[in-house]
Amino acid sequence: MKQLGKPFLQLITLISGLLVLSSFLVGIIVFILFFSFSGVQLPTLEEDAPLVSAIPETPKPTALMDPAGMWQAPDWSKVDESPDADAIKYGKELIANTAEYLGPNGKVKKISNGLNCQNCHLQAGTVPLGNNYSAVASTYPKVRGRSGKSEDVVSRINGCFERSLNGDPLPADSKEMIAMVAYMNWLGTGVPKGEKPKGAGIYEVPLLDRAADPVKGKTIYEQECVVCHMADGQGLPKPDGSGYTYPPLWGDHSYNQGAGLFRMSRFAGYVRANMPFGATYENPILSDEEAWDVAAYVNSLDRPKKDFPNDWPDISKKPMDHPFGPYADSFSEEQHKFGPFKPIQEAIAKLK
Ligand code: HEC
Ligand code: HEC
Repeated sequence: MKQLGKPFLQLITLISGLLVLSSFLVGIIVFILFFSFSGVQLPTLEEDAPLVSAIPETPKPTALMDPAGMWQAPDWSKVDESPDADAIKYGKELIANTAEYLGPNGKVKKISNGLNCQNCHLQAGTVPLGNNYSAVASTYPKVRGRSGKSEDVVSRINGCFERSLNGDPLPADSKEMIAMVAYMNWLGTGVPKGEKPKGAGIYEVPLLDRAADPVKGKTIYEQECVVCHMADGQGLPKPDGSGYTYPPLWGDHSYNQGAGLFRMSRFAGYVRANMPFGATYENPILSDEEAWDVAAYVNSLDRPKKDFPNDWPDISKKPMDHPFGPYADSFSEEQHKFGPFKPIQEAIAKLK
C-alpha cells in the first residue's frame, strides 16, 4: 500500500478534477440550450445601460405626435425686424400677463377675471398642441357655427375675453386689441393662407367607448392636480393681486359655461398634452382615459353661467360635446356632456 499511495492519490485527484470540470461544462451547455429554446429573453447589457433597466418598469409615455414637421413659432430675437415690432411686443406682453393689464386690478382696464390668456395658450400661444395661435392668421376670418357668421381675429379674441376670461370685450380700435392682433399675425408668419400647421391648437383625444366618469376623475384630480390647483379648485392667487401662480379650475373666478374648455373634448385635449404642468405632447403624463375622466370631474363643478342667446343659430352645427340642447339629434344633454360620443358623432355625420 505504501508504494502505491502517491501515484494512486494523484490519479484520484486528476479523475475527480476532470469530473467536476465536465459536469460544469455540461451545466453551462444545458443552461444555454434551455434559454435558447424556452423563449426567455436574457437581459442584454448595453453600453451605459444601468443594471436596473433589466427590471421591467411601467411603460414610458409615448409622444402624441411625431415631432417631425411640427410648427415652430418665428424667432423672437428677430421681432425688431418687423415694422410693427412695438405693437407685437405689447401684444405678447398682454397675452402673457393679461391680468396685470386687464384683470380685476388691471392697470389699463378692469374687464376680466384674473386669468392670463397664456394660462390656456401656453407660452404666449407658441407651444405645439399647447393651444397655440399658429393657425389664427391663416384661418380667420372664417364662418363659425357658434355665431353662425364670419368672425375675424378681433371677434375671436373677444370670444375668449367674454367666456374664458368671463369678462367684457375690448374695442376693435383699442391699442390693446391692435397689439394682440399684430402679435398673432406675426406668429402666423410663413403659414400659407387657409392652412393649419402641424400641432396647431389642441390635441384631439381618441373617443372612449364609455361615458367619461367624474368619480374616477375626482381621484385623478386628487392625485395629479391638487398640489397646484388646490383641493377647492381655486388655485393660488399671486400675493399682489395681479393674477395667479396656479389658476383656478372652477368657481367664480374660472372660465364660464360658454367657454371652449367647458367642452369635454377641449379640456381633455388640453390636459392630455399639457397637464400636470410640465407634461408635453412628447412626454405626456395622463392617459386618454384619465384626461377624459378628469375633464368630466372639473366640468361637473360650479362655474359662472353667462347667457349667449345668439349662440348656435343653426343647432345642427353644435359640436358633439356641446352640453346644452336643443339638438338636431335625439341624444340627451347628459350624453352630449359626458359621452359616449361615438354614436353622437355618427348621428351628426348622417345629418350632414
Ligand atoms: C380658460 C382657458 C382660455 C383662456 C384663459 C383663453 N383662451 Fe383662447 N381659447 C381657449 C380654447 C379652449 C380655445 C378653442 C381651441 C380649439 O377649439 O381648438 C381658444 C381659442 C382661441 C382663439 C382661436 C384659435 C384658433 O386657432 O381658432 C384665439 C384667437 C384665442 N383663443 C385668443 C385668446 C386670447 C387673446 C385670450 C386672452 C384674452 C384667451 N384666448 C384666453 C381657451 C382659453
Ligand atoms: C405643478 C403644478 C400643476 C399641476 C400639478 C397641474 N397644473 Fe394645471 N396649470 C398649472 C399652471 C402653472 C397653469 C398655467 C400655465 C401657464 O400660465 O403657463 C395651469 C393651467 C391649467 C389649465 C388652464 C387654465 C385654467 O385655469 O383653466 C387647466 C384646465 C389645468 N391647468 C388643468 C389641470 C389638471 C386637470 C391637472 C391635473 C391632471 C393639472 N392642471 C395639474 C399648474 C399645474
